[in-house]
Amino acid sequence: MRLLVTGGAGFIGANFVHSTVRDRPNVAVTVLDALTYAGSRESLAPVADDVRLVEGDITDAALVDTLVAESDAVVHFAAETHVDNALADPEPFLRSNVIGTFTVLEAVRRNDVRLHHVSTDEVYGDLPLDAKDRFTAETRYNPSSPYSSTKAAADLLVRSWVRSYGVRATISNCSNNYGPYQHVEKFIPRQITNVLTGRRPKLYGSGANVRDWIHVDDHNRAVWRVLTDGGLGRTYLIGADGERSNLAVMRAVLRLMDRDPDDFDHVTDRAGHDLRYAIDPSALRDELGWAPEHTEFDLGLAATIAWYRDNESWWGPMKDTAEAAYQEWGR
Ligand code: NAD
Ligand code: DAU
Repeated sequence: MRLLVTGGAGFIGANFVHSTVRDRPNVAVTVLDALTYAGSRESLAPVADDVRLVEGDITDAALVDTLVAESDAVVHFAAETHVDNALADPEPFLRSNVIGTFTVLEAVRRNDVRLHHVSTDEVYGDLPLDAKDRFTAETRYNPSSPYSSTKAAADLLVRSWVRSYGVRATISNCSNNYGPYQHVEKFIPRQITNVLTGRRPKLYGSGANVRDWIHVDDHNRAVWRVLTDGGLGRTYLIGADGERSNLAVMRAVLRLMDRDPDDFDHVTDRAGHDLRYAIDPSALRDELGWAPEHTEFDLGLAATIAWYRDNESWWGPMKDTAEAAYQEWGR
């Protein structure tokens, strides 16, 4: 199989490329990535000899068409992904997430190539903190932020290209990922690298907000299950029953790094901050037989902390810039 992976130099995409190269020797991987601030060649260094990396933009229709025409399938990860950046400047999110997905869709339509579109649980908005219900594929779209609304728009484009043009596509909406190669702007890597650089960890508001954590390798195994055996036109929710409050995650990071669990600052909350995300993954489990392998959050978190300790050369160069933005925002 010739597989085109957009955004393969970012966090989830790079982990996807690593595991694909390791586990699927019959797959020839091409990565298309604009190498924005969030993507880096270094994330693909361990597999540099095994994949083709094309530096380019998913809004470049001629380039995307050429690469799609050479492929049997596309896994589309490329996007602007950080909610705080979207609040500060939404324009790149419209361009990459909406126009970029449109460009990919037109290319797979012209060339009749299978597409898997990677999306997020944030398209469903949030749930009350005290409720027991979870998101399913039937939950109404209700995005809160410029990030999630552009991802929702992209999902709707995919659905309509399936219905109107018969494009062979699937969608997955996953919860919060953690693991190696995640940008230090995101919650878990930010706290780990704050400790490692002598800064104080930062918790938005009270920390009562709940996220449903999944290890990035479990997400990527689910993407492969959907790409291989998912029903065309279907949406699959990916989650690993990993609901935790931000305060609990913060304390776990500090405990695993031998710090006092209260050794952090409360900072100004994010505007429009979603309260709780929770995924019901039963369709994926029951129909496609997927189950998470990283079921002990503390073990996955400890391994992630060890990875950041051992790979300062990867994250060091981006840390000061990320913290300068947070300082400007008062977070
Ligand atoms: P990331 O920000 O770490 O990486 C995004 C990658 O896309 C980067 O390599 C960047 O250079 C590339 N990119 C951005 N705009 C581009 C463009 N116009 N053209 C080409 N490349 C471009 O993101 P991530 O966390 O790895 O997320 C990957 C995908 O998974 C996204 O679609 C995101 O919405 C989705 N997702 C993420 C999570 C999560 O917890 N991180 C959860 C669910 C879904
Ligand atoms: O749910 C999936 C989504 O998860 C993905 O679609 C997004 O691309 C990804 O960024 C992530 O979005 P979140 O906004 O949930 O992730 P983030 O890491 O920015 O923040 C996680 C939670 O932690 C959120 O409630 C805000 C809080 N937070 C974040 C940072 C950076 C803090 O309390 N302190 C921080 O320093």
